[in-house]
Amino acid sequence: MRRNICLEPRTAGTFLRWLSSFPCRPGPDGSLWKNKQQRSLKNKIRNTGKSRRLPCPAVLNHFDQQYSEELGDLWASARAVLLDPPSWQYGVMLNRFSSVTAITQILLSQGFSSMLPQTDVSELLHNSCYIHPHPLRFPSPTHRPGQLKQYYLLNAASLLPVLALQVRDGDKVLDLCSAPGGKAVAIMQSATPALLCCNEPDPHRRDWLAKTLESFLPPSLRSRVMVSAQDGRVIGQSEAGFYDKVLVDAPCSNDRSWLHSSDIHRGQQRLEDRAGLPELQTQLLRSAISAVRPGGVVVYSTCTLSSLENGAVVEAVLKDFPDAEVESLWGEIALPLSEYFAVISPPLGILVVPQPGKTWGPMFLSRIRSSS
Ligand SMILES: C[S@@+](CC[C@H](N)C(=O)[O-])C[C@H]1O[C@@H](n2cnc3c(N)ncnc32)[C@H](O)[C@@H]1O
Repeated sequence: MRRNICLEPRTAGTFLRWLSSFPCRPGPDGSLWKNKQQRSLKNKIRNTGKSRRLPCPAVLNHFDQQYSEELGDLWASARAVLLDPPSWQYGVMLNRFSSVTAITQILLSQGFSSMLPQTDVSELLHNSCYIHPHPLRFPSPTHRPGQLKQYYLLNAASLLPVLALQVRDGDKVLDLCSAPGGKAVAIMQSATPALLCCNEPDPHRRDWLAKTLESFLPPSLRSRVMVSAQDGRVIGQSEAGFYDKVLVDAPCSNDRSWLHSSDIHRGQQRLEDRAGLPELQTQLLRSAISAVRPGGVVVYSTCTLSSLENGAVVEAVLKDFPDAEVESLWGEIALPLSEYFAVISPPLGILVVPQPGKTWGPMFLSRIRSSS
């Protein structure tokens, strides 16, 4: 099958210059970063960072039609960002269960800063999430046998559903669609729940999830974290009313990666499958609301701009739960973080739209409180 590949030397060059500018300082094990870690990281970027795919015309055309209608002028600037991977920003979530003093110093010296204001809800996350105003990609964390990973790289907008979930120590939490586990790791950075059930029906993705949890959580916490393999649509029946908080980070059209589908057939297949997603998402959200106790909280999130997979899903589900309430996230999340994120307020939630200089997203989130 033919793949459209073009070389993108800019990414690799920028990264290498940035990496070379690290000051020479001792790593966590006392060795010099400049000598050991940097050398292997440079080799890694030489081998992996050179190629970049062109956008898939079928997906781009489809998005152009739908999103210019839904987002108006905002789509042109969002489109420009989505089509320009070298402009994408990356967030770094530190792992509070590992030793992070040295890595924090490196982040600060490179111009990264803590993203979250210090509030009750984000007190722990405040010290653990770093972003940079420019598109600098921190290298992937290395695996060191017997040691936890020090950080997780992510689109910083992925943290917003976790913030909205407001997990407190002692909560029973369900991460209904959990692999590869980024939000599960973030939940464990934000509080110490009594139970975090990470559910993922796809066996390969579940293996990936298990590895993520093992790489980031100490053995002492593992008794609180379990992995399950159910179809999320049935958990609302089998575990009705059991959880305090449920996160539905739903399977969705992942706009960023779909635009860069590896070939046109894959892109077209995704567009065909797209039509079935709102029904699956509606069933998952219904199941989640049934799985929380009276007064419990469900956060629904996707990484697409599509209103059919966002507000329309929430609206459909609310018809079955007329006493459940959608809570505003505008004052709590959108306004305090407007320095970093371009956020709009479509019906029933908030939507982070990638924009030049604020390339985070897409990310839709909605918080629903079940009736007490
Ligand atoms: C957007 S991803 C989740 C990302 C994850 N929350 C994270 O932050 O790393 C959606 C996940 O839902 C899973 N999924 C698909 N169908 C599902 C179902 N019926 N029940 C539960 N999960 C499902 C997919 O396999 C995929 O891993």
